[in-house]
Amino acid sequence: MCMSHMVDLVIFGGTGDLSTRKLLPALYQLQRHQLADRLNRIIATGRGELDPESFRNEAHANLKKYLPQDSWDEAVWERFCQRLDYVKLDAGNAADYAQLAELLNQSEAPGRLYYLATLPSLYGEICQQLQNASVVNEASRVVLEKPLGHDLESCRSINEQVARVFDEEATFRIDHYLGKETVQNLLALRFGNQLFHPMWNNTFISSVQITVAEEIGVAGRGSYYADTGALRDMVQNHLLQVLSLVAMEPPASLKATDIRDEKMKVLRCLEPITGENVKKRTVRGRYGAGAVDGEAVKGFLEEDAFHHADNTETFVALKASINNWRWAGVPFYLRTGKRLSGRYSEIVIEYRRQSFSLFANDPQELTNKLVIHLQPQESISLHTVNKKPGLTSKLKLQPVELHLTDESQNKGDSYDAYERLLLDAVHGDQTLFMRRDEVETAWRWIDSIIGAWDENSTPIKSYNAGTMGPNAATALLAVEGHSWHE
Ligand code: BG6
Repeated sequence: MCMSHMVDLVIFGGTGDLSTRKLLPALYQLQRHQLADRLNRIIATGRGELDPESFRNEAHANLKKYLPQDSWDEAVWERFCQRLDYVKLDAGNAADYAQLAELLNQSEAPGRLYYLATLPSLYGEICQQLQNASVVNEASRVVLEKPLGHDLESCRSINEQVARVFDEEATFRIDHYLGKETVQNLLALRFGNQLFHPMWNNTFISSVQITVAEEIGVAGRGSYYADTGALRDMVQNHLLQVLSLVAMEPPASLKATDIRDEKMKVLRCLEPITGENVKKRTVRGRYGAGAVDGEAVKGFLEEDAFHHADNTETFVALKASINNWRWAGVPFYLRTGKRLSGRYSEIVIEYRRQSFSLFANDPQELTNKLVIHLQPQESISLHTVNKKPGLTSKLKLQPVELHLTDESQNKGDSYDAYERLLLDAVHGDQTLFMRRDEVETAWRWIDSIIGAWDENSTPIKSYNAGTMGPNAATALLAVEGHSWHE
């Protein structure tokens, strides 16, 4: 094994929820797929008094719990667990970093990847402590989990503190939606097909919808969700990142800088939502009691941790406008919420109707649509029309869905977004990570909406758990002659 490219990975928050449910399973899978050749040791840190052996035992039990059953292989685990180590570390305690440094300095791997999965308010302190302990070198990188702040100001403050220690080229800001296969497939679809590219603009497209629907509620998220709400938790990052990939201009190349430059231009062209238009452009919702998947569930305000969070939305729908040549006049409808009727994420590109129809009784609702499903199944389908078959129906139209994904490929190669992102971070590829200006520009746009909600005391509409949000979300589109793709 050539050590010159090897990386030691240190996970802060190494016994936390994210690490247990996502990071360690993803790292195990990389090992299983023989993609962990640049990874040397994996050092989890946490506040608990654990010796490395007990940590490995816990990791063993948790991996068995969270990995798909058919992924478990005792031989892979044997190799994986040799990389695992644990250091007790309190983010504010310099002596704990000295211990970490001792461990790192024994390693032959020159690269260091610090994965921060703690409270974001600790990011600045952790970076500073790492520097004080002299464990940041030229081959060191830092990965920052979301949420990156609560608003533009707090985001800037975190970014500034981190930047005192790590250059932008060494800073990897996670948005796990960018690691999802179909989100990356957007680039292949848009720029690899002559069929779609020439029609990807306001001459042909009438609207774009992005929906991220969740069945889960917010129980167990404690005070985080009470102070956050759906706009900050989901739109600021995941939905705006997806929007910018859908809307960006062709990049000069597939290099990280070129792609991020184009995404950034989209974010800059988002028309601000302000006190003047917020009422027409946004809907806030909060789930009340209802049933999801046949099971009765409590309303948001009935959850113990959220009694007082009556200004927190669990649903948001909004109309975004991108003021540039390609997209002027095309609404981008975004919608996300908890306790909805199903768990799915999709992008719907709706094409304009033809200016004239030859067909009698042409059903007006049959527009061409490109539907890109991000999850739970990854697939792309094109909604078109053809002739209803038969002798009796002369030239009547009927909808047909063309499936553009290769099912056989799908089965063999599905992976979790964190596997992709960890692999890229180990290899130093920033393409699927957010640059500082992107995150801050997104916050600026979100802050304006929150400011407008406060200014207008925008009410939160209630919806029953197990439905697709308040009726006002349907009306948001209906007034413009559109409807949500269901
Ligand atoms: C996280 C949000 O970023 O994304 C959660 O904080 C949300 O509230 C989660 O549940 C959704 O991710 P996924 O991959 O399950 O769609």
